[in-house]
Amino acid sequence: MSLAAIRVSARRGAFAAPVARVPRTFRNSAFRRYSTEAPKTKSSNTALFAGLGLAAAAGGLAFYIYSSSSDTAKQAGTALKSGAQAVKVAANFVPTKEDYQKVYNRIAEILEDASDKGYDDGSYGPVLLRLAWHCSGTYDKETGTGGSNKATMRFTPEALHGGNAGLGVARDIMEGIKKEFSWISYGDLWTLGGVAAVQEMGGPKIPWRPGRIDGFEVDVTPDGRLPDGALGSDHLRNIFYRMGFNDQEIVALSGAHAVGRCHRDRSGFDGPWTFSPITLSNEYFRLLLEEKWIWRKWDGPKQLEDKTTHSLMMLPTDYALVQDKSFKKWVQAYAKDQDLWFKDFASVVSRLFELGVPTPQFVSSDPWILQTSNE
Ligand code: HEM
Repeated sequence: MSLAAIRVSARRGAFAAPVARVPRTFRNSAFRRYSTEAPKTKSSNTALFAGLGLAAAAGGLAFYIYSSSSDTAKQAGTALKSGAQAVKVAANFVPTKEDYQKVYNRIAEILEDASDKGYDDGSYGPVLLRLAWHCSGTYDKETGTGGSNKATMRFTPEALHGGNAGLGVARDIMEGIKKEFSWISYGDLWTLGGVAAVQEMGGPKIPWRPGRIDGFEVDVTPDGRLPDGALGSDHLRNIFYRMGFNDQEIVALSGAHAVGRCHRDRSGFDGPWTFSPITLSNEYFRLLLEEKWIWRKWDGPKQLEDKTTHSLMMLPTDYALVQDKSFKKWVQAYAKDQDLWFKDFASVVSRLFELGVPTPQFVSSDPWILQTSNE
């Protein structure tokens, strides 16, 4: 297909906005709405054109058209999308780093609304970080499918994957921001939400750059790509090796459980991992080593609790990190040295958030460092 033909089909609205509506029965009264409904107005088209710089969008188009190894409808669809983005961006708005910083700042403001609303421990940071991770962690390095590029959790089948239970809260928050900054793609927005969450909760700076495009329902990945907290170290390796991570990186990533909590009405598990669930620190690793962990006696799924206060929890997958020798040496290293964990966490999270995004799509060859709200 010629570039002109691609542009024409793009203008004709070949990319109707997806509507991810989740049946009422799956909605939870504890939060506003379970699924994110894609905007139906003019901005829904803008949504499709995402926040790519013109050069990057054109590069992405060339990448898809000339280097695609097969001629599947899916790839053609993506090529069309990149073409559409190039056209739209050329005609309208090319966001700069400052524009993305404005989005970051808005997310940072909204994180704190949780406190007024009595949500969890007073920050939306943990649930936004989980959204960013779940949108990226579907990546499969063998097939190149999944990852943060297409933001496929907007579509009902993926929104309903068991591992994504409860993430409607985060998608709804992000939808509010999307209304204010309609030019940004969902993948960029959600991963930027993860960056803001980490940085605003006192964690390290996460190098990040935009360039993700919104995909289609056909891009939804099969259920089962995210880890199951009830399992052990073999499972962790199967899941994370598939994304291209090694043992050290699995441990570094798991340290994210320094923040947030499990919710009975989402995963079935219950409770926070640490005493400061809205501050990023290496407390998770210290607790894993220093506390005595015992199996909780209750009617829920198998999980551990700390023997001292019975108020903290560990999933079987968390506990596997101190039962497996190769994992444990990294737990020990990170428990001893928070700076080392921050350094490794920043680099592995940055990579996680870029999984599945073809390099030519990025607007910058080097990831950016965005400022925190108190800088
Ligand atoms: C190692 C395998 C992992 C497993 C089995 C796992 C499992 C879970 C489960 C069961 C929950 C509770 C969900 C709920 O009930 O609300 C959770 C929450 C969370 N996870 Fe993980 N996770 C893993 C890795 C990660 C990674 C790599 C990150 C980020 C880099 C992450 C970030 C979070 C955060 C921030 C929360 C708290 C969410 C909230 O408070 O709403 N997890 N995880």
